[in-house]
Amino acid sequence: MRISVIGCGYLGAVHAACMAKLGHDVVGIDVDERKIGELSAARAPFYEPGLEDLLREVQDTGRLSFTTDMAAAMESSVHFICVGTPQKKGENGADLTYVDAATSGLLPYLSAGAIVVGKSTVPVGTAARLTELLSKQQPDAHIVWNPEFLREGHAVSDTLSPDRLVYGVVDGSEDHPAVAVLDQVYATPLSNGTPRLVTDHATAELVKTAANSFLATKISFINAMAELCEAAGADVTRLADAIGLDDRIGRKFLNAGIGFGGGCLPKDIRAFMARAGELGADQALTFLREVDAINMRRRSRVVELTRELCGGSLLGKRISVLGAAFKPESDDVRDSPALSIAAQLQLQGSVVTVTDPKALSNAALRFPELHYETDTAKAVDGADALLLLTEWREYSDLDPYELASSVASSRILDGRNVLDPAKWRAAGWTYRGLGRP
Ligand code: UGA
Repeated sequence: MRISVIGCGYLGAVHAACMAKLGHDVVGIDVDERKIGELSAARAPFYEPGLEDLLREVQDTGRLSFTTDMAAAMESSVHFICVGTPQKKGENGADLTYVDAATSGLLPYLSAGAIVVGKSTVPVGTAARLTELLSKQQPDAHIVWNPEFLREGHAVSDTLSPDRLVYGVVDGSEDHPAVAVLDQVYATPLSNGTPRLVTDHATAELVKTAANSFLATKISFINAMAELCEAAGADVTRLADAIGLDDRIGRKFLNAGIGFGGGCLPKDIRAFMARAGELGADQALTFLREVDAINMRRRSRVVELTRELCGGSLLGKRISVLGAAFKPESDDVRDSPALSIAAQLQLQGSVVTVTDPKALSNAALRFPELHYETDTAKAVDGADALLLLTEWREYSDLDPYELASSVASSRILDGRNVLDPAKWRAAGWTYRGLGRP
């Protein structure tokens, strides 16, 4: 099939490459010339494991190209909208400027029967609004909402083998003509057993925000338990192991620590609350305010614990922060709890050095006032305290005996509860985890 993918960021670039891998002819379109230049040269403009290899592989087949020219969409019958929906400045709602611009830009190039497939995370009601816009210009085209559930760091495998496919069509019917077309697009994952659900537009839009809200709630639940464990002298990691063995609860997403960040969970729960308010259903989601509050409290708790660890004052203390990305295997620093903590510590008078295997250039753009060091050994040299804030493998594998000789004081705060406290204490370190005795 001939497919266009509009928006080539974390979502669209991966989607375009994966659609070509599935055998389709794909053009990726973005307004950002730098991004298109990189992608055309088979270079990923951001770090995502496996993406660059995939780009090289599919570009060699001639099935994938990139351009800034929207007219290139004319050849395609299926158009994926993959642009960002960031939080509005100074408000909780989602900024739909890019979704609206992508859809309007596409309108002149839509053929009769064309299918516009929304993948961006949007407030419920967006597909209905775009359907009206479409019906004026190309009444024979269709809008499908097909939310994306990929995780950064696993984006390629999540796209090639998703755990479910959701098609939101205007009438919610299996017989809608767009259903058969999308079944062709996703023929490979469907034949491999991926379940697919057909719903109406509104349900499909809500599936995505509901899923992210549930995940955020799960993380804040275990972080609330961490607060209790700290007060009671209990261990939240063992508590999570024990409750996670109940398969109605499950152990995944029960890792207590510095909380969730990134370009999705934080802004999605806020946009969901804002939309619920517009719909007169704000009471249904007031619990998400608490989920957000618990999450933000983690960051101030780490600052306080670091102060304690440093003997009561942060002034002039050399703090080394291991990890800047919002999670490992990503260079994304959007709403990264690690960077937010590093910046807080710096503001409170510490001398902070941040290291990360992939995210330092993005981090430096966001917080230019922090000091960055690529080499882990140099970053920890002479530190009064180490803070492990993003659980990259190379940090959880650090040897406490080797490290002890480079720091000024053997103190570590394990913000992701990934280290073995007994091992670090045996090597002479003062160890603090979150929600652990
Ligand atoms: C999230 C969802 O997991 C995806 O399904 C969704 O498609 C995506 O948002 C999106 O809306 O596009 P992602 O933002 O890549 O994916 O990251 P997650 O793996 O969900 O992690 C989010 C944050 O939660 C990270 O900061 C991570 O460190 C934190 N986390 C995760 C915890 O603190 N504890 C856990 O147990 C799990």
